Amino acid sequence: MKYKIAIIGFGTVGQGFAEILEEKGVWLKERYGLDFDVVAISDPVKGSVYADPSRHGTGREHGLDLKKILSLIKETGKIDSYSEGIKGWDSVRTITDTNSNVIAEASPTNIETGEPGITHIRSALNNKKHVITTNKGPVALAYRELAKLASENEVFFRFEGTVISGTPALNLGLEALAGIKIQEIRGILNGTTNYILTEMESGKTYEEVLREAQRLGYAEAKPDADVEGWDALAKVLILANVVMGGNLRVQDIERTGITGITLQDIQEAKSENKRYKLIGKVRKENGGIKASVRPEKLNIGDSLAQVNGVLNALTFVTDELREVTIVGPGAGRRETGFSLLSDLLNIHQLLEKSSSTIDPSRIVTC
Ligand code: HSE
Repeated sequence: MKYKIAIIGFGTVGQGFAEILEEKGVWLKERYGLDFDVVAISDPVKGSVYADPSRHGTGREHGLDLKKILSLIKETGKIDSYSEGIKGWDSVRTITDTNSNVIAEASPTNIETGEPGITHIRSALNNKKHVITTNKGPVALAYRELAKLASENEVFFRFEGTVISGTPALNLGLEALAGIKIQEIRGILNGTTNYILTEMESGKTYEEVLREAQRLGYAEAKPDADVEGWDALAKVLILANVVMGGNLRVQDIERTGITGITLQDIQEAKSENKRYKLIGKVRKENGGIKASVRPEKLNIGDSLAQVNGVLNALTFVTDELREVTIVGPGAGRRETGFSLLSDLLNIHQLLEKSSSTIDPSRIVTC
């Protein structure tokens, strides 16, 4: 099967994905038999283009020239001046009316409404197109509905990059640890806040480090999603509902950010051989699932206390293996772009293995 990919949202992540596909295309085909074209890209700011096969003189189906597209973006910030194809379609039309069969949804997260991601994903699934996404909003807010829709339409819905980018958190919990009982998942799920807490240990104030994090591009100009714990909460919600089988909502999760942590708190912790970390936690408790995001003072010997700077980490507390910890990047152009490739390869391998006998809903539910 040839994967005809439409990329919806062409910001850092969408571009990172396109770069990886462009650089590794030949090798992916040789190594994994992954045959693909990117047939369309749509972004509300950068423009949209669809390599409509019927418009090409030969009638031969082919995709966009990613090298050209990426250099256009670099030079002009836009893709509208691409020499061929149909221009100007909005995201929903690009999803529904192109000959794409895989939608790579990389529009920005909105944790209050989940939009426009939820609409994009619903449209794709209703049109029997596989979805791979890095957008946390739809998975955090509408996972059950979307997983059901995928199952009903016999397509896959994969979202590895929603929790600590391409570092394999969901694949680890759902697939590698299948057959194990997970009692708790806890971790450092936000790089910006981990960077701030780490830097404050050297005596800098919260405000100083926040400015530095903004200059380095870790924190947004409006850093609330990170520093108030909303970004970590979205990831906790996904872990709770997807890996732990819960049905939690935003309001079920206790959330405290790091804005109340002073330099004095950090120094006091240091003198006690402890370290503050913003910990996202999901645990089985009294037959239910409890989840929280809050700063915790960890012993310096705790594996999570050793994870500094922008790195993220997750510890799975299990019956058979006790604790399994994974440490890796939680953000970044290539790091998050890669998660889309990981989802695509996963779909490809599942389809290859079992042709039509697999039930896609099994892949995303516990
Ligand atoms: N802003 C997030 C972080 C990355 O700092 O980890 C996206 O979830």
